[in-house]
Amino acid sequence: MNDRFLRACRREPVDATPVWFMRQAGRSLPEYRAIRRHATLADIVRDPALCAEVTIQPVRRLGVDAAILFADITTPLPGIGVDVEIVDGTGPVIARPIRTAADVAALRGFDPEASVPGLLEAIRLLRRDLDVPLIGFAGAPFTLASYLVEGRGSRDAAALKGLLHAEPEVAGALLDVLVDLSLAYLRAQVAAGVQAVQLFDSWIGVLGPWDYARHVAPRMRRLFDGLAGLGVPAIHFGTGGAGLLPAIAAAGGDVIGLDWRVDLHDAWDVVGDRAVQGNLDPSVLLGPWPEVEAQARWVLERAGGRPGHVFNLGHGVLPATDPDQLRRLVDLVHAGVTVEALA
Ligand code: CP3
Repeated sequence: MNDRFLRACRREPVDATPVWFMRQAGRSLPEYRAIRRHATLADIVRDPALCAEVTIQPVRRLGVDAAILFADITTPLPGIGVDVEIVDGTGPVIARPIRTAADVAALRGFDPEASVPGLLEAIRLLRRDLDVPLIGFAGAPFTLASYLVEGRGSRDAAALKGLLHAEPEVAGALLDVLVDLSLAYLRAQVAAGVQAVQLFDSWIGVLGPWDYARHVAPRMRRLFDGLAGLGVPAIHFGTGGAGLLPAIAAAGGDVIGLDWRVDLHDAWDVVGDRAVQGNLDPSVLLGPWPEVEAQARWVLERAGGRPGHVFNLGHGVLPATDPDQLRRLVDLVHAGVTVEALA
């Protein structure tokens, strides 16, 4: 069992820097595309064997130190009464967005065993077959709310932000429902066997510090407090660069995910005595290998060999990425930077 990812989350010494990639399973892999020719994302998530296979594909091909359960952040939403369709080229689309107090009141409590039995079974299968730790995940409440209120991914989340300002009790009630959803969902994933969890707050970068402090931070704290007793590390990934990082770090998480807009060394100073994950710009992988190598070495140098660095990209793998570049990057991270480079 390769446990260097879990050791790094706990800031224990490791034989090599662990590495995995957000969105490592999926469209950049030909073996995934072959499966997608006859199965949708929803089909995959319902079928435990298929879901396990897609989760393992990047471990096999890339040699990463952790697997992340294959699903989408919107996968649990039907369980609270929201229909979601994943549209090619667009992402999740919600035909009837949540905008009013009545819409929020109509949402149901989330029952994981009833709503996502296939996913929980996939976790059990994966624990039998994997020789690296399995990461479970959920969308963070603000990011899920942005899909629910906007109806789809949005650059500025103007409808959700408008609701936060005009009807804070409605937006707040929605965020509270989503905290409860994430807690129930992640607890069920841990009970089924995941060994770490990550919260993706992919859209949080649209907020300024005032709104984050007022509307999001208390809810993220409740979420992380609820996860604390589970005995698995919780990774908190939010985008927003240096501006939001102090608030995101203060809101909780054993490991703080860094996007590429920050210098890893300086960001680690802000995070303090905790592990960090990141933070190579995913677009660098679209360039030639020497550029990938130079920038990856820079990330490793900025980590400086301190215990508690999990190498990752600063956001998800872009679909156009060549998997061979990812494979070389894994090998480079494992080989590490030399002592001279660190001096
Ligand atoms: O990391 C992994 O490999 C596990 C799988 C995973 C998916 N979505 C599968 C997926 C994870 C962790 C996610 C999280 C997710 N989904 C996030 C948070 C991370 C991030 O990138 O910010 C967000 C914002 C979404 C919403 C979403 N789902 C978008 C914007 C899209 C369309 C763009 C895209 O990447 O294709 C999806 C669809 C989706 N989720 C696909 C996959 C493999 C593509 C569906 C397909 O064509 O197969």
